[in-house]
Amino acid sequence: MELTAQSFPKGFIWGTATASYQIEGAVDEDGRTWSIWDTFSHTPGATLEGDNGDVATDHYHRYEEDVDLMAELGIDAYRFSISWSRILPDGVGAVNPDGVTFYRGLCEALIAKGIRPIATLYHWDLPQVLQDQGGWANPDSVGWFVEYATAAKEALGDLIQVWATFNEPHCVAFLGYSSGIHAPGLADPGMAYLAAHHLMLAHHRAIAAMRVTNAQDDDRLGIVLNLIPAWPNDPSDGAAAAARGVDAIHNRLFAAAVLDGKYPELVLGYMEKFGVRDQISVDALADAVETIDFLGVNYYNINHIAHDPDAPMIGQWPGVDGAVLATPPGQVTEMGWGVEPVGLSWMLNRVTRWAPDVPLLIMENGAAYPDEVGDDGDIRDDMRIAYIQQHISAVWDARAEGANVWGYFVWSLLDNFEWSFGYARRFGLIRVDYDTMERTPKKSARWYREFLSS
Ligand code: FCB
Repeated sequence: MELTAQSFPKGFIWGTATASYQIEGAVDEDGRTWSIWDTFSHTPGATLEGDNGDVATDHYHRYEEDVDLMAELGIDAYRFSISWSRILPDGVGAVNPDGVTFYRGLCEALIAKGIRPIATLYHWDLPQVLQDQGGWANPDSVGWFVEYATAAKEALGDLIQVWATFNEPHCVAFLGYSSGIHAPGLADPGMAYLAAHHLMLAHHRAIAAMRVTNAQDDDRLGIVLNLIPAWPNDPSDGAAAAARGVDAIHNRLFAAAVLDGKYPELVLGYMEKFGVRDQISVDALADAVETIDFLGVNYYNINHIAHDPDAPMIGQWPGVDGAVLATPPGQVTEMGWGVEPVGLSWMLNRVTRWAPDVPLLIMENGAAYPDEVGDDGDIRDDMRIAYIQQHISAVWDARAEGANVWGYFVWSLLDNFEWSFGYARRFGLIRVDYDTMERTPKKSARWYREFLSS
């Protein structure tokens, strides 16, 4: 059967996603201050080709055109993120009216076209002024985030009803503070576990604050996790143990903290190993726990985990001895990530068993490929279409098995600044020519439009 949007139940939400630092540009305009990604991307050697988000896709100046492009796609909703340093340039304290004006303008343009705005508060761009005080490793970060979340809800809550606190806290903590491949570029596993703890406390306390700030009847508050299956690459006990460790850090740490207000035993052991266990109060987490209205799931691939006792520790999974990331079987995207939609249905079913009443939204799914521009100017990105089609089909399969999934968002609307890969990886349904900023819908954009309208 050929699936279309109509095959899914009424109320299922289809959209596209982006993030502030990846698309906005205008980094020094209208009162915005630098974030950790400005600092990091301007650090020699931090990103491929030294690329940075100074201009990015210039969405800050072109958002009206981008909303028109979204309207042509026919999406129900658009997931974007808010730049903390546009709203609170000092990290805390005075609200910047120009920052608010930009996001109000964007939301009003979306709503005028019948597109529902969905905001992520934190997609990795901490104000640099707060990093200077230790960033997420500082326990005060919990209060800083609650203040920001409250200010954003106050200023925009009449226009935005669906809010996510964080995007992929695993990346924030472990790529930022341990492997160091993301801002702020640190390599201190103890700090990464502290950061993870503060992120989880900040999530719960921000949800509590947002429930009572500018409250609207249809407010829906949640968080977005990158739940990536960690599967043993072979039947050995070593691979099984390494995969359990990776799963505990990548998935269960955050899912358990969000859903149950607890940390897995394995993770408590790693916190101990890196000397920070006594700074992490499990009681504080248990006391802070708030229910969420949805759980966002980002899915790209499966991590296949092998074991070699002599392998160096992998920074994003600190404490797991001998874990080795194996080459995925079959096709890979330009990121080197395997194309394995079965992992998506597997994960959706797993989370539904864990928390049957929490609706799941796939907040990101998509693929980077070296798109060729044809002589006629057309970009025939058939590989991307196949990737998206197969993953939508995996969502369908998971639903048929009872998974509680209610939305699917393609990453990304536009080609954009892909973090440490700079502009060298393109995920967009719409191509951006970085010299002229011209937008050209790819074949995948036409495909998605037909999928949504047929
Ligand atoms: C996710 C990020 C998103 C984008 C995709 C490719 O981890 O949330 O910003 O970079 O990967």
